[in-house]
Order: sequence, then C-alpha cells, then structure tokens
Amino acid sequence: MTSALPYGNGEPHFGHVYEFIITDIMARFYRLTGRDVIYVCATDAHGTPIEINAMKAGKDPLSFVMENHEKFKKMFEFFLISLDNYHITHSEENEKIAHEMFKKALENGYIYTKEIDLLFCEKCNRFLPDRYVRGTCPKCGAEDQYGDVCEKCGATYTPFQLKNPKCALCGSKPVIMKSKHYFFKLSAFEGKLKAWIQNAPLQQEVKNYVLDWIEKGLEDWCISRDGPYFGFKVPGEENKYLYVWWDAPIGYIASTANYCKKAGCDWEKIWKGTCGEFQIVHTIGKDIIYFHYLFWPAMLMATEFKLPTYIHTHGFLTVNGEKMSKSRGTFITAKDYMEKIGNPEYLRFYFASHTSSGITDIDLSREAFLTAVNSVLVGNIMNFVYRALTLLYRYFEGKTISASTYDMEELVEVKNILERIREAYENWNIREVVECVDGIASIGNAYLQKKEPWKLVRENKEKAHEVIAQALNMAKDICIALFPILPSACGKALKIMNLEESWNLIGKELENGHIINKPEPLIPKIEDFQLF
Ligand code: MSP
Ligand code: ZN
Repeated sequence: MTSALPYGNGEPHFGHVYEFIITDIMARFYRLTGRDVIYVCATDAHGTPIEINAMKAGKDPLSFVMENHEKFKKMFEFFLISLDNYHITHSEENEKIAHEMFKKALENGYIYTKEIDLLFCEKCNRFLPDRYVRGTCPKCGAEDQYGDVCEKCGATYTPFQLKNPKCALCGSKPVIMKSKHYFFKLSAFEGKLKAWIQNAPLQQEVKNYVLDWIEKGLEDWCISRDGPYFGFKVPGEENKYLYVWWDAPIGYIASTANYCKKAGCDWEKIWKGTCGEFQIVHTIGKDIIYFHYLFWPAMLMATEFKLPTYIHTHGFLTVNGEKMSKSRGTFITAKDYMEKIGNPEYLRFYFASHTSSGITDIDLSREAFLTAVNSVLVGNIMNFVYRALTLLYRYFEGKTISASTYDMEELVEVKNILERIREAYENWNIREVVECVDGIASIGNAYLQKKEPWKLVRENKEKAHEVIAQALNMAKDICIALFPILPSACGKALKIMNLEESWNLIGKELENGHIINKPEPLIPKIEDFQLF
C-alpha cells in the first residue's frame, strides 16, 4: 500500500494528513483481517519548485527537503500512521531503479528524442518551465498570469502565446531556444490502457474520466528537463535530468526496496508480480489522476512490471466549504493541530465519518467537528463502551457470563449491522463503518436504558448479569470494528477487555467466565479550541 509521495517543498498540511489517515485506516483494516501489509511512502524530493525555493532560502535542495522530511516523520508518529517504511526519492535505490526503468523503456522502443522550442532566460541562464513565465493572458488580457493557464478566465495556452512574457524569477524578457528532449510514447499504450481501465476494479467515476481522456487521444510525454534541476540525470547526458514525475512513482518501488533491505524480502518479486498473492494498492488525491491511471501504468507496461491492483482516489479537503487558503487563514498545518487540539483520534474519527468511497470533497467545519467528536464519538459510542465495562466491573467483579437466554430483538439488529461493516471497509466506505458502529452504540445505550441492570441486579441478579454480558459483547464488536480508525482508544478498551485485536472476534460471544480489568476513561470530550 502507498500514499502519494508528498513534496518536500513545505511542511505537512491537512490535505496530506487526510490522505495518510485514510490510507492508514485501510492498512490497519487489512492487517486486522489477517492480510500481510507493507505500507510504504517517501518524500518527493525533486523538481523545479523545490530547486528554486531552496535557492531562494539560500539552502541546497537536499537539506531544504530534509527539514520537511523530518516534519513528515513527526506528523506520522503523532497521527498514528502505521507506515512500514518512509523513504525519500533522492536515494540510491530510487536512482538505480529509475535509471534501469528508463533504459528498459528505451530498449523496448518507448522513449525517443526530439528538438523542441522552449523559453530561455538569458539573465538567469536557465530554461523556464511554464509556471516560471508570467505575462498577460492572450484571451482576457489579465496581467501577471502563469505561462500555461489564466487564473482569471481559466484559459489554457502555451507560454509562447502569452503576451509580454517575463521570467518569473528576474523579470527579464525570455527568448525562444531549441533543446533536445526525451519523450515517452504514451500514445503507444492507448489500447492497453483502455483495456486495463475497463477491466480493473476501479471507481466508476474515475474510470469515466480516464476513458474519456483516452478517447480524446493521448499525447507523448516529455520526461526530461534541462539543468539546473534537482533530480537524477538522464543516463548518458550531462545537463539533462529526468522529470520529477518519472522518478516520483518509482519512489513507491524504491521505498519497498529500501524496506526489503531491512526486512529481508524481495522487492522485485513483489513489483514484478512473480509472487502471485501480492496486490498493489495506491491512495491518491483527485488532482493526480492522470499521472497514476495513465503515465504510471504505461511506465510499468513499458518496463514489464506488475500493474496496480487498485488505485483509490479521494476528494479534496476543504475548510468551511472552501479550498484551504493561507489568506483566509484556513490553511491548516499538522503542527497547528498538534499544538492547538492535541488528540490525533478526534481528527481520525472526523475524517473517517466524512469519507465515502467516491471522489467528492470532504469539508471540515468547526460545528461538524464538534458534533462528530463530542456527540457521536464521545457522547454515544465510547460512552456505551465505557458503560458496559464499568457495569460489569462494578456489579460482577469484571467477570462475564454466557447468556442462557438472548434478547433477540437487539441481537438480530446488531447482527445485521455487523454484516455490513466488513463490506463497507472493503469498499473504502469508511463513513458507513462509522454509521454502523454509531447505530450499534445507540441500540446498546437504549438497551441498557430499557433493562436498567443497575436496578435489575437487586431483583434478578442472573438476568442483570446476562444483560450486561450482552452489552459487553456489543462493546467488544464496536472496539474491534473501530480499531483501524481509533487504534489508541480502542486498543486501550480491548486491553481492558483482555482481548487481542482480531476481526475473528466480531459477532462472537465472549467465553463464559472471561474477566476484564478495571475500566479507565477512554477518550475525553474536546474542549473549546481556536483553529478553524
Ligand atoms: N509529489 C506529488 C505526488 C507524487 S506520487 C508519485 C504530489 N505531492 S503533494 O504534496 O502535492 O500531494 C500529495 C498528496 O496529497 C496528493 O495525493 C494530493 O492529492 C494530496 N492532497 C494535497 N492537498 C489536498 C487536499 N486539500 N485534500 C486532500 N488531499 C490533497 O502531488
Ligand atoms: Zn530570469
């Protein structure tokens, strides 16, 4: 499993946190259900923005990136992200594999060279990528627009069409210059990509987008850049580099190779598909669909690697209904949350309760956050778990019994819900998992309210014991089902119950005489906070 490699260009923000939490929940679910998971990722170290930002900060690109790399590692620890390996694309493994794959694709006839016109700044002595040219939009006349798209009217164009073009770095007028570049023959894969997309178990709405792009025809892809550039050299070239999007996805493979060095496995078997059982699952945001559903599988096809089994695309995180924005004060970093809210599981739960299997955006607002955490999580779900634990501990020294008669009505309802939970997870419909668990907790709370075992215990001790035992069984199911989302709070509850976390325990009655430990509070309500 992978999450998209975050750029080492800045510190982790909430969009990154969202993606890592979602992937982590699924990795933990797969492990809980007995699958052997290797969850890897890496910092994406290369490319023009990183090279230029480092230069502006007066740092060399690698030390610039390493500072952010360390911040990502801290974020993972804080938000309980269970990565098995976190590497960086500027690594030995990645250089070796990126070069090998380049040579293989070249040898197989999928890479060719061509002279192209580019804008060049004579003052900065560098070729200018589209984003580093600014000028007047040829369509609407808006000033100071990027070289490829106008933010005012949305028109797209080439930097040569831009009026009054200027180098974004120094302001001087660029000239047109020829340069030889390497192209990947994406067009040669139209048929194969189409067949793959049609047959793979991918999200339907994403399939539709991608098939539409294929239908319109795929253009070959320029995979080299002129120096100065932070990246790996094109094999056999002096001042030409591999474009960052060539070696970035290869970073998935290189991180696996780096992991295997330590764990003693064979990355080639995994990635070339020669040990059949392995599945490759990527999680990405909707802005990088083209790269993952077209470029990446074509690269894998061209170099005889295994194709992804599943790519999960998620929507974008918005705050109060709008794109996160520095100027509106809604650009939230991981650090802000760590300092101002603290408990990572509030956010894990919030993201879980708002994530469906589709690619619609997920909104974060103060009101919805407080409701999810204080009413649903703490007020209903964990409150029920804690009630069941304390009742058993207080009235029966923590010793449960097997019920002789069942309260069928509640039991059947719970059983029906339990059946939906696993399927919801398998479909990445995490919101439905939370809804199901919330439903069980409501049934459980109402059940305790109706039976009042704290009163019943005086008249019919045996029956009161059975009621509490049945509540405890529901609490156990809740904690296992929510363990991937709340590994800390549910881990703690399961420890109190003297149970190992395993999906096999779901829906099974605890053994007669099973003993629990002294309950402790599981998760507190959230206090007032100042963040969004
Ligand atoms: N480095 C590339 C990915 C290379 S993968 C071989 C990249 N980096 S990124 O830092 O810009 O984004 C990393 C991931 O975070 C992407 O999947 C992106 O979609 C996701 N998100 C960035 N902002 C986001 C939101 N506001 N909401 C949800 N996810 C978003 O792209
Ligand atoms: Zn310049």
